Amino acid sequence: MEKKKDIVLSGIRPTGFVHLGNYFGAISNWARMQDEFNCYYCLVDWHSLTTHPDTRELKRSVVRLMAELIGSGLDPKRCVLYIQSDVPEIAELYLYLNMLAYQGELEKTATFKDKVRQNPNNINAGLLTYPVLQSADILIHQAVKVPVGKDQEQHIEMTRNFAERFNHRYGNVFPLPYAFNYGDELIKIMSLDGSGKMSKSENQMNTLYLADDDEMIRKKIMKAKTDSGPSSPNSVKPNYIDGLFTLMKIVSAPDTVDKFETDFNHCTIRYGDMKKQLAEDMIKFVSPIREKISVLEKDEKYMAMVMEEGATKARSSAKATLQLVKDAMGLKYY
Ligand code: TRP
Repeated sequence: MEKKKDIVLSGIRPTGFVHLGNYFGAISNWARMQDEFNCYYCLVDWHSLTTHPDTRELKRSVVRLMAELIGSGLDPKRCVLYIQSDVPEIAELYLYLNMLAYQGELEKTATFKDKVRQNPNNINAGLLTYPVLQSADILIHQAVKVPVGKDQEQHIEMTRNFAERFNHRYGNVFPLPYAFNYGDELIKIMSLDGSGKMSKSENQMNTLYLADDDEMIRKKIMKAKTDSGPSSPNSVKPNYIDGLFTLMKIVSAPDTVDKFETDFNHCTIRYGDMKKQLAEDMIKFVSPIREKISVLEKDEKYMAMVMEEGATKARSSAKATLQLVKDAMGLKYY
């Protein structure tokens, strides 16, 4: 008998353009999982309301992100790609899980504390229970593998706790999910000034987006932080230089990388030349993806079809789980 494929779920918020950090740190891994596992990928618009209550741009952001995910290699025929608010069953499970989540543990979640600090004027209950909604995203498909970065591991641990509490109180419904990544370390893409990870909230000039045109890519890379070069052979690279090498390893030919590595080690490296080369190789990498996205985004009919088909598949799985949940809880009165 064929072994049943593990169920995978991950989510991404529609709050800004996809950048290389998202692409290499997450989406390319999601794409890699498509055939090996039974994958659900969710565009979590409800989660974005916890920090972005203004919905005027939401439709564009959702369609754009959907196009970016498909353009980056998620194939709606090989995974279930859907929008969270199309699956009301998630909200119902969220309600049940909320009764199993304690105020104390929610208040001490690292991401909650960060967001309170960043935005003291909008500490809403949705923000506090963000990890509960995320747990509902995962448990609604009985997923076990959750491909996420380090910053999300605490949320997945909370998901396991909620699932265990449910199973213990009402009966075994949920397998316990865990953060999954392929053995090799997740590639960390540094911002172009070396100050941290490339991220949505960063200065846009230090972040490379799939939407950037060729000129913009050149401009950003040529402005990337460098220095006057190493003064002794085989030095340790400063962060910002290491970040440029990481990008080069991803998009350039191996002998190109080798050449600049050797130059660096011999203290003969010319960062201007390196950046020029990197910019051209980056353009070769990004421009076909960008063009694909722009074609998809304009094809309203295709996009609508993908979203509807994704919603149908996601709901059918969600309904089945919710029925198990309600049966276990005894929520049936006539
Ligand atoms: N909290 C995740 C993030 O900020 C997004 C997310 C929502 C998610 N629901 C999820 C990730 C479920 C994995 C599984 O990146």
